[in-house]
Amino acid sequence: MKESCIIYGGGGFIGSHIAEDLLSKNMKVSIFDKQNTSKRNVEHIIDKIDFIEGDFNNTVDISKSVRNKDYVVHLVSSTLPATSNLNPWYDIESNLLSSLHLFDECVKNKVKRIVFISSGGTVYGNPEKLPIRETHPTAPMNSYGIIKLTIEKYLYMYNLLNGLDYRILRFANPYGERQNPFLTQGLIAHLLYKIKKKEKLEIWGDGKIVRDYFYIKDGAKSIHKAFKDKTSNRIYNISSNRGLSINQILDKFRRVLGLKFKVDYLPSRKFDVKSNILDNSLAAKSLKWHSETPFNEGLKNTWRYFLDFK
Ligand SMILES: NC(=O)c1ccc[n+]([C@@H]2O[C@H](COP(=O)([O-])OP(=O)(O)OC[C@H]3O[C@@H](n4cnc5c(N)ncnc54)[C@H](O)[C@@H]3O)[C@@H](O)[C@H]2O)c1
Repeated sequence: MKESCIIYGGGGFIGSHIAEDLLSKNMKVSIFDKQNTSKRNVEHIIDKIDFIEGDFNNTVDISKSVRNKDYVVHLVSSTLPATSNLNPWYDIESNLLSSLHLFDECVKNKVKRIVFISSGGTVYGNPEKLPIRETHPTAPMNSYGIIKLTIEKYLYMYNLLNGLDYRILRFANPYGERQNPFLTQGLIAHLLYKIKKKEKLEIWGDGKIVRDYFYIKDGAKSIHKAFKDKTSNRIYNISSNRGLSINQILDKFRRVLGLKFKVDYLPSRKFDVKSNILDNSLAAKSLKWHSETPFNEGLKNTWRYFLDFK
C-alpha cells in the first residue's frame, strides 16, 4: 500500500513543488490549504492529489485532516520576516498555537514523522561565522524567526514527552517557478516580475546584502529524504552553501537573461542581516541531499515562468 502524507500550506510556492516530488516518490499526497484559495500552483497535479480546504487555525479542520496520514509536512505561516514585528501577538496566535494543536493531533493519530520547514534566514540572527552550521547559536531578530525557533523547541518537547518523531529543515532562500512576486519574501521573483512589467527596481540599502539562494525543485527533494532519514539528526540546513549579493543577482539578470532595467537604491532596513550563507554539509552527508541545479539554469527556468505569469 502507498504511504500517505499531508502538506499543510501545500497550495503555496514551496508546497506545490514538494507535492510534485512526493507524487514522483509514489506517495499518496494530500494538500491542506485555505478555503477558496487559488489552486493555480497545483492545477497541473490536482487530479493526483487530495486537496483539503480548511483553516490551519481551526482545530476541527486539523483534527479531521490528519487522520490516517503516515507523514506530515508543516508549511503554514501567516506572517513574513519583514512585517511580523508589527503584530507579534498575531504571530503567536496564528502560527505558534495552531502548530501545537497540529502536534497534538499528530501524536493522537500516531503519524510516523512530521517535517517542519523552518527559516535558516532568520533563526540564526547575525552570524558569528560563515557559512552557518546547524550548531551555530540562534538569535532571531524578528517575531517570524522567534516563532519558527519556538516551534522547533516545541517539537523537541513533544518528542521527549510524547514520542512525536520529527525533522526540521531550515531553508535558506528558495527561488523558482510559482514563487509569489507580490510578497516581501522572494527577492528574485519580485524583481523579475517588476522587470517584466518594465518597472524600476527598488533595492533597500546598497545591494551588498548577501543571501544563499537555492532552486526550489532541489529543495523539495529534501522532504522525502527527511521522511526516510535514519540518523539521529533532527535539524538540517537546506541551502546552496553559496552567497550572492543583490548586485550580483542584478548582474546575472543582465548577463544570463539579457535584461535591461533601472534601479533605485533606498535606505537600508534595520532588521536585514548583512550576510546569510548556510552550511549544507550535514544534509549532504546524512540525507544525501544536494543543491544540484546551477544558479544560471534555475534562473532561466524562473524567468521563463514569469514571462507567462499574469
Ligand atoms: N519562501 C521563502 O523564502 C521561505 C524561506 C524559509 C522558510 N519558508 C517557510 O516555508 C513555508 C512556505 O512558504 P511559501 O513561500 O511556500 O509560502 P506561500 O505563501 O506560497 O505558501 C503558504 C501557504 O499556506 C497557506 N496558508 C496560510 N495560512 C493558512 C491557514 N490559516 N490555513 C490554511 N492554509 C494557510 C497559504 O494559503 C499558502 O498557500 C512558510 O512557513 C515559510 O515561512 C519560506
